[in-house]
Amino acid sequence: MKIVSTEPSQVLAGRIADALNISVVDVKFSRFPDGELYLCANGLEEDMIIVGSVVDNDSLVQLVLLIDACEGSNNRLVIPYMGYARQDKRFKTGEPVSARAISRMLSWGIGRCITVNIHDKRVLSYFKIPASDVSLSRDIGTHIKDMDLSDPLILAPDEGAAAFAREVAAIGTWECDHLEKTRISGDEVRMAPRTLSAENRPVVIVDDIISTGSTIATAAAMLRDHGAGEVFAACVHGVLTGGAYARLKAAGIKEVVCSDTIERGCSRYSAANRISEALSQ
Ligand code: R5P
Repeated sequence: MKIVSTEPSQVLAGRIADALNISVVDVKFSRFPDGELYLCANGLEEDMIIVGSVVDNDSLVQLVLLIDACEGSNNRLVIPYMGYARQDKRFKTGEPVSARAISRMLSWGIGRCITVNIHDKRVLSYFKIPASDVSLSRDIGTHIKDMDLSDPLILAPDEGAAAFAREVAAIGTWECDHLEKTRISGDEVRMAPRTLSAENRPVVIVDDIISTGSTIATAAAMLRDHGAGEVFAACVHGVLTGGAYARLKAAGIKEVVCSDTIERGCSRYSAANRISEALSQ
């Protein structure tokens, strides 16, 4: 068994290979003059582990091409970050269920699929093959432990992230809460911790995804109004689009960290251990 990856997931794939003590396949990636993607993998085997985050349309096409190159029904697919997963239902008539379309597309030529903190686990049922999800809550919790903060409050920016925040908080038996949005007027929203006080204590806001950074930047501003101490942000998937990292720093966030499901300069913990555990089962 060997591991092969798309370009955006090569570092994570290397870490998974090290954890499983297997080798990595060398792939040549290029483009035809008309812009079409081309790849050629050197030394594929019968049973492959294929790793590829869907971070944009090119990475999706690379993944589809790689699956076809591998040609084996026992191949296992790891999708560390699955773009399009947030469009997991039809919000208005005429829209696609994009998560379903992508899941179906990636199910051919694969025996099993593993995702990491997928936006909603219901998306797993869209795959045509057995699919399971692993969580990095333990890894984020361990990172927060290493930060050595005094009595931190672990905070989810909304109710949807509350269960994930509780899993993270359990690692250090820290207190945990989520922000509650109250609509003051048509264009004014107030966010405050639901039950616990953030006053004069470090706060770590945790979420599955930081995309534009607006959710966390708004939360940080509200926390400042509530007299919070230093504010940190930790997520699984650092999408960080449109200058999000700078937006968060400008909002006064002391440190922004993410995992390597999307490889970033601020990737501070790896999904490799959880993925290799799942692959070993
Ligand atoms: C929403 O359901 C997600 O959990 C994140 O809170 C959201 O995707 C973050 O987006 P942004 O960084 O653009 O506010």
